[in-house]
Amino acid sequence: MLEKTLQEALKIVVPDAVEIEKGRRAEEILKSRLNNILEGENIDYEFVGSYARNTWLKGNLEIDVFLLFPEDYEVEELEKRGLEIGKSIVDRYELRYAAHPYVHGWVKDVEVDVVPCYKLKNPEKIKTAVDRTPFHHRWLKDKIKGKENEVRLLKGFLKAGRIYGAEYKVRGFSGYLCELLVVLYGSFLNVVTAGRKFRRDTVIDIEGKTITRGKEFTVVDPVDKKRNVAANLSLDNLARFVQRCREFYEHPSILYFIKQPYKNITNKVVRELEKRNVYCLITSKPDIVEDNLFTQLDRGCKKLFEYLSRLGFRPVRRIYFSDGKRCYLIVETEVENLSTVEKRMGPLFEDEENVKRFLEKCRSRGQKPFIEDGRFWVYAERKVKNAETAIREFATREWKAFGKDLGKTVREEFNVVSGKRIVEYCDNFEDIARFLGIIPDLGFIE
Ligand code: CTP
Ligand code: MG
Ligand code: MN
Repeated sequence: MLEKTLQEALKIVVPDAVEIEKGRRAEEILKSRLNNILEGENIDYEFVGSYARNTWLKGNLEIDVFLLFPEDYEVEELEKRGLEIGKSIVDRYELRYAAHPYVHGWVKDVEVDVVPCYKLKNPEKIKTAVDRTPFHHRWLKDKIKGKENEVRLLKGFLKAGRIYGAEYKVRGFSGYLCELLVVLYGSFLNVVTAGRKFRRDTVIDIEGKTITRGKEFTVVDPVDKKRNVAANLSLDNLARFVQRCREFYEHPSILYFIKQPYKNITNKVVRELEKRNVYCLITSKPDIVEDNLFTQLDRGCKKLFEYLSRLGFRPVRRIYFSDGKRCYLIVETEVENLSTVEKRMGPLFEDEENVKRFLEKCRSRGQKPFIEDGRFWVYAERKVKNAETAIREFATREWKAFGKDLGKTVREEFNVVSGKRIVEYCDNFEDIARFLGIIPDLGFIE
């Protein structure tokens, strides 16, 4: 059963001959263009990443080329030359941003990253994160030989569970992390077997081959002991991984390699939204790097949630997402409308001076204070009674809470919709359904 499942899974994760050939052709073209343009220069290049190691996932062909500049290059010069070279070796391109701006382009319809970095002798002396990458490649290159498809199985298993990728939007496992785990445990199945027992404080030392406990889930980078390769993996995604491993181990199935499609959930979502207090803040998407956007969405959504909590609306969950044009921040609350009055706390009766001040203030407002549990209190009219109004209030006054760029767009324009009207504005029914708890959060097989 297991054997058969893995055989079937290989068909899903291993690229076919056509894809491989497509890669080889792009590689050749890239190499000849690079050799031409770099002739007589002291800049080297290296193919790194999953293409160079034959570990890319079927359908995700992408070539990573790193340009290695001598250490004495000024950063500005490295960036300028890096972009020039990048642009000149691809057929078409767009600019992207990592440690430095770099070229993301296409050669014969194959995606290519051309990333500039420094050529260093020692990985401990790295200047930016990208300088580590060539060392990662050299460390893995031979160790991963013969285990390429094990890496692909792991990547496919994670991708179907929506936890593949270290970018902020996903906060899952990076390709490099997958390869390190396969090197340590030897096979996909061994990773899954061990993964069932991972804890939030597990510390895995790849080079030392030891598993200990520490402060947080850590995979020590064999190339740089100070770095945690799993730093971007969120606690919840670690938990999803562990549970997925347990369930696959008990009931191996090809379904763990196929993203579960959720179709025809619109009606279910609408019915649920009618019953519950769900609010959606919509604003336009700032034109910034994805990782920055999701950091700001995450923080902004948290602040909105905390505000609703302070006001007494008892928020339960929150999510956010974005499409090409807009950002959506969604909160569900237990309370839709609060009482028109609010009980405000005054001083303890012993505190004569403050009691006097408190009573004077109340009198001037025509309020009638009272004593309870040894202190003064007063009823006041509540300013914000409705959750939707509260969200509008927050977005109008506290737009800065949404961060540098998202804050700006919120200040310019936003809208708040609630209940089933949300589906008129956004079509991400799957994430909303998961948020409402009406489809499994885990991507498991039901
Ligand atoms: N990298 C980087 N900055 C980027 C792009 C890539 O530092 N903007 C580095 C990554 O740290 C990684 C390598 O380049 O070590 C390749 O990155 P990526 O393509 O994201 O990962 P792969 O290992 O190639 O895995 P995948 O199969 O998902 O492409
Ligand atoms: Mg890659
Ligand atoms: Mn890449």
